[in-house]
Amino acid sequence: MAEIHRASTTAPVNIAVIKYWGKRDPKLNLPTNSSLSVTLSQSDLRTHTTASCSPAYPSSDTLLLNGSSQDVTGARTQACFRELRALRKSIEDADSSAPKLSSYPLKIVSENNFPTAAGLASSAAGFAALVRAIANLYELPASPTELSRIARQGSGSACRSLFGGYVGWEQGAAADGSDSVAFQVAPASHWPDMRALILVASAAKKDVSSTSGMQTTVATSSLFASRAAETVPRRMKEMQNAVQDKDFEAFGKVTMMDSNSFHATCLDTYPPIFYLNDTSRAAIKVVEAINTAAGKIIAAYTFDAGPNAVIYYLEENEKKVAGLFKAALGEKDGWAGQRGDAVEANGDALEKAKAEA
Ligand code: ADP
Ligand code: DP6
Ligand code: CO
Repeated sequence: MAEIHRASTTAPVNIAVIKYWGKRDPKLNLPTNSSLSVTLSQSDLRTHTTASCSPAYPSSDTLLLNGSSQDVTGARTQACFRELRALRKSIEDADSSAPKLSSYPLKIVSENNFPTAAGLASSAAGFAALVRAIANLYELPASPTELSRIARQGSGSACRSLFGGYVGWEQGAAADGSDSVAFQVAPASHWPDMRALILVASAAKKDVSSTSGMQTTVATSSLFASRAAETVPRRMKEMQNAVQDKDFEAFGKVTMMDSNSFHATCLDTYPPIFYLNDTSRAAIKVVEAINTAAGKIIAAYTFDAGPNAVIYYLEENEKKVAGLFKAALGEKDGWAGQRGDAVEANGDALEKAKAEA
């Protein structure tokens, strides 16, 4: 029997409060603006990925996602494989006794326990898990920062899932993308009472993928340029301050306004992109009603490229926010389900994933 080498890992979803939307370099996945997200607990949404390699495997690399075979010949997946193999190769070159794993075909088996391609950041958890599983398999000493640089090339948002807590992605300036990496703004323990309620309006695959949607926006929207050059840089600072100061009103206001700004550029795209639906808009109204009743911002909605809502709130407002949402929308037609009653921002995503691996 030929040898088989194997390693598994899990990776969390992250939901941006300042959205990445637009590439200045589609090949390297370099963004037109920096972004900031909260990494969610893996107890509700997560990707589990096993990477294995063997000289006995058929000659090409394979990827099985939720039981169905995926194309791995795309430039994005290839870039991840190539970078990770090069790092492994340097270990093999330095130590002749190290098994020559870099020359073996890879077999990746991955499962998402939440809807794929529905605007719940499956590409983020998916590519973070893929990169870390292979890094574990190859026993690479790579830091989360270096892995974030590689995962970014698989899917931009994936770079932020390498860190827990409150995470930024610096757009960077270098033409080779070396400085376009994720960084931790604050660990979850800094502001541990943050919660996220995930409302699944539709688990269906979106009509327009994030990759193609943002390309069309960059090419056609006239709102987009001012968003990338002025609005987002200002809000990045406001958001970092809100997290540092644990100022939920500021955090919530900027979160909602940035989600609105992102979806406005989608509508301003030609042909227009509609990620929100009537159910999404009903969720926005419920948040508005909650905040009006409270006399301040205690709940904040945000929507990625899909109709599903993520509502951020603080633990102390659990009843007023999650409780009211259940009453208002829980039974209503259109909501396929609810997940993550009180999903915590997990500060130890990386450590936890390592321990579970
Ligand atoms: P989402 O809003 O879910 O991130 P995207 O349009 O950004 O949607 O990306 C969806 C694509 O990401 C999928 O079609 C698939 O190619 C890729 N993807 C999702 N999950 C995984 C995974 N676990 N492993 C590898 N690739 C994945
Ligand atoms: C709206 O990271 O999925 O979720 O880099 O083309 O794979 P690709 O796009 P992706 O885009 C995410 C867009 C977003 C905002 C965000 O997560 O920052
Ligand atoms: Co995505």
